[in-house]
Amino acid sequence: MNEINLKDKTFEVFIPETEISAMVHSVANAINNSGIKNPLFIAVMNGAFLFAADVMKKITIHNAEISFIKLSSYEGTETTGEVSRLIGIEDNISGRNIVVLEDIVDTGITLERIIKLLEKENVADIKIATLLFKPNAYTKDIYIDFIGKSIPNDFVVGYGLDYDEIGRNLPHIYKLKN
Ligand code: IMP
Repeated sequence: MNEINLKDKTFEVFIPETEISAMVHSVANAINNSGIKNPLFIAVMNGAFLFAADVMKKITIHNAEISFIKLSSYEGTETTGEVSRLIGIEDNISGRNIVVLEDIVDTGITLERIIKLLEKENVADIKIATLLFKPNAYTKDIYIDFIGKSIPNDFVVGYGLDYDEIGRNLPHIYKLKN
């Protein structure tokens, strides 16, 4: 099934499941080899739920923990430029070595907001891992430590990513067909 329809739009397969697995593997390996100690992974919901689960299964670092935050900056296929924190960090994370797990970094607005929130908590270190990165849309200077794949400015769905909250369950990543 190379094409699917979600609501009013047609999408075509862009990154098949097998390639996603390889990307996840390579991100997890890079994190494992980075020397980070006692990491607290912070997965950004909802989009990163599958990526976070799959990466975590491959993390071999001693005492790795995971927690979840929820923010949203998207409605439909266009960014609103607004990001709101919906669910935050409840435990004391001061002094922790954080690895943020993102599904996709587009403009970087969400990422910047997350970094600011984490810095207020006096964490020791922040590293960023994202499954997908859109370098041509990125407007920030924040260094991204681990990238699964850089992609053009296409709108993508599947493997956690949504179009108006649907499509997150798809095993492949699809892109909007023009
Ligand atoms: P940013 O703040 O512009 O970097 O956007 C980050 C968030 O927007 C991601 O965590 C996604 O939830 C959403 N997003 C950005 N690009 C896409 C896309 O192509 N498909 C689905 N969601 C996206």
